[in-house]
Amino acid sequence: MAQVSLQVRTSLDLANARFKGDTTISYELILEKFRSIEKPIDKYLTLRDLLRLAPRVYYDLLLKHTEEILPYIYTPTVGEACENYHKLPLKTRGMYLTLHDKGNVLKKLQAWPVQDVKVAVITDGERILGLGDLGRNGMGISEGKITLYTAAAGVNPMQCLPICVDIGTNNPAYLEDPDYRGIKAPRVTGAEFDEFMGEVMESLQAWQAHMLVQFEDFGNNNAFRLLDSWRHKMCAFNDDIQGTACITLAGLLSAARATGKPFNEHRVLFLGAGEAGTGIGELIATYLHLRHGMTMEEGRQHCFFMDSRGLVCKSRTNLQHHKQPFAHDVESCPDLKSAIAALKPTALVGVSTIAKAFDREVVEAMCGLNDRPIIFPLSNPTSKSECTYQEAYEWSKGKVLFASGSPFDPITDAGVVHYPAQANNAYIFPAVGYAAILAKSKEITDEMFVLASEELSSMTDMEELEQGRLFPPFQSIRAISKVLTARVAEKMVDAGLGTAPEGCNDWESYVASNMWNADAL
Ligand code: NAI
Repeated sequence: MAQVSLQVRTSLDLANARFKGDTTISYELILEKFRSIEKPIDKYLTLRDLLRLAPRVYYDLLLKHTEEILPYIYTPTVGEACENYHKLPLKTRGMYLTLHDKGNVLKKLQAWPVQDVKVAVITDGERILGLGDLGRNGMGISEGKITLYTAAAGVNPMQCLPICVDIGTNNPAYLEDPDYRGIKAPRVTGAEFDEFMGEVMESLQAWQAHMLVQFEDFGNNNAFRLLDSWRHKMCAFNDDIQGTACITLAGLLSAARATGKPFNEHRVLFLGAGEAGTGIGELIATYLHLRHGMTMEEGRQHCFFMDSRGLVCKSRTNLQHHKQPFAHDVESCPDLKSAIAALKPTALVGVSTIAKAFDREVVEAMCGLNDRPIIFPLSNPTSKSECTYQEAYEWSKGKVLFASGSPFDPITDAGVVHYPAQANNAYIFPAVGYAAILAKSKEITDEMFVLASEELSSMTDMEELEQGRLFPPFQSIRAISKVLTARVAEKMVDAGLGTAPEGCNDWESYVASNMWNADAL
């Protein structure tokens, strides 16, 4: 660290002493010192140093205090870390694959010091969180996200590989920054992109049988095509599209139960028609197809999308490919309020990155149509959220069924505490991914995500729904992941996609006994 504060140094010294066998130093003391570090970015750097210098201590903190530690490993702190990654004193344990490796990717993988890799999180850094093109600095996101496989689902961290593909950057500041270490040229696109990513994916497949690959934060122009090219050839999925869809469907299923109206009678209006939005729309359609006997086209008729040009509808020309299935035969609407009046949605989902787009008029219009309006402002970070919990609660007079992308504080009203649900993808992707690894599944089908949504939703009862809780408490994430992993793995085997490992008679006990913990170090 360029300038190490006393607080940071103290917590590191303590952790080091503990690591070297001084058992008189308790984890509580290390945690207390860690808590006293003021700046989130210093906490992030301290945790990275701990991982390098005292891994046992790092994993113990992570696994015993997951909810408290995660914000300094992943969002929101990882955003700041990625923006400044090239200036921070960081040593990655991840792998960079650059255009200079063209023709040699497999050789590079085969020369990697760790050869038993089961899961890779891979980004090209084009659209990191809501922060845009961060090029090679995107490594921070792969590192952060892969940690969740261990923290939430118990995947052995030695079997996890973060990867950043460096294919240039269109970030003008980085192109001129002497400290930026990535390729200083505009991103390659089209056939050149496909060819390089093709080599990367084929090499990963050839390197490790049954490897799970998670695509992360690829730009809109490539994410859908990349996913479509690989999702049926191997265990590859995109968390921004499919993970988000799965957690949101789980939230919608819970919210629908609270309304008392069957799910097939709901209509969802999305503000934003990008990766998150259209991914959710497709999974809702799949759910309605699989569980309510509709065709996919009929299922999609329950989802309507607004983008920056108004309602996505049949009369629109030049629609991007991923929006076309949702271009329904309805009158065009220029803005959200006119769309709410015309379409009478039961649920509103914000995936637009437009802060405050769900204003009082919007929330009141939803209340005029529904006893319990479902309102999910999912845009991150908090500053981009379409509304806050406080606003949605007040404007709906407490009727709202709410889930957000970023966390909000609970509200106490007449002595009763109401909790805002947070649609955190970490409920889903580590468990579904670990299921695919354990069952050696050939691919992860949409049916698996539907099942994971249903299982997660079923973990919340009516009493909890009344308090606003659409998901079970995140602090029980390992117990939640155990059940989800078991159910999905079992289904993968039933569907003929995978096989039960030797000695696995009961999936839940098998998963439990295969969850890694820090004692293994
Ligand atoms: P994206 O860039 O693929 O899509 C954004 C969409 O918003 C585009 O379709 C764009 O046309 C639309 N948009 C922009 N301005 C608009 C306007 N004025 N009115 C209506 N639509 C407008 O981004 P992506 O991946 O879909 O993410 C969107 C948001 O969702 C981000 O803030 C992201 O952080 C959040 N998100 C939340 C998750 C969660 O809560 N679990 C998971 C994934 C994403």
